[in-house]
Amino acid sequence: MRSLVIDCDPGCDDAIAILLALRHANVKAITTVSGNVPVAQSTANALMTVALANTETPVYSGARLPFSGPQIHNDVNHGRDGLGGIKRHSHSRTSESKSACNFLLDCVSKDDWVVALGPLTNLAQTLERDSDWGKRIAGISIMGGSTSVGNISPVAEFNTFADPQAAAKVYTSGAKLKMCGLNLTHQLQVTDETVSMVSDLRTAKSSFVAALLNFLLKRAERLIGSRCAPLHDPCAVLAVTHPTLFEFEECCVEIETQGALTSGMTVIDQRTTRPRLAPNTLVATHIDATEAIKVIVDSLETQ
Ligand code: RIB
Ligand code: CA
Repeated sequence: MRSLVIDCDPGCDDAIAILLALRHANVKAITTVSGNVPVAQSTANALMTVALANTETPVYSGARLPFSGPQIHNDVNHGRDGLGGIKRHSHSRTSESKSACNFLLDCVSKDDWVVALGPLTNLAQTLERDSDWGKRIAGISIMGGSTSVGNISPVAEFNTFADPQAAAKVYTSGAKLKMCGLNLTHQLQVTDETVSMVSDLRTAKSSFVAALLNFLLKRAERLIGSRCAPLHDPCAVLAVTHPTLFEFEECCVEIETQGALTSGMTVIDQRTTRPRLAPNTLVATHIDATEAIKVIVDSLETQ
């Protein structure tokens, strides 16, 4: 089993990704960051998720503010509490005293993959303190960016837009990188059929995830008039635990940090007519969505 550290901003899809990772990998720790919701809330949500999964996975709280630029949140898509306002599981877990950055610096080694599901602020802070950190770990699998359209802006995806300077630091770190952008995650759509498959498992985890999926579908119905929604963060977990479900393309990914209209855009060289810029990332271009949904649903089977 792969050894992972999940850096996240739960977040409905982050919580589902955590449960998926706990089933298919050795999750060494979870580090949290401000993103969908403030870091105190994303930390509380991560603690509740690991308590629900009944694991001793430690949670390290991280950056409250972005590396640069204004602090933004995404509660419009995840609810003010970050988990769609669904019924919360009571528990007595607390986060570790060590900060996320100190954990990443001291305890992540050559066999560990970091799966980054929120703004990349914690990773950038770590690189600021040790510029070789990215080359000393197995790799970083990122949910973020896009080879096509954005979501938070016409050209930028939320995680990258929320801290473009941090993203630029990660993409120039020399680490082995995998990127699951919106072009990929929008191939993994959940529907009411997914909710039924999950609900039929009748476990605590499956009831929790069914409620999260229903929240996402209700939001989609309001936004686009249909109960069909992309599941972003689990893709970045699967890119490490189930790479055969994907097609990847080696590309140069650069981050726009100055543009008035394009800040946070992932500028990806996919030219076929000229020599490309030197690649730094495995960009995911296709996922076997049917099989991926099956793996995600099956991960919720055990109590
Ligand atoms: O743009 C999608 C990303 O933004 C996901 O990680 C989701 O959780 C939000 O953080
Ligand atoms: Ca996220």
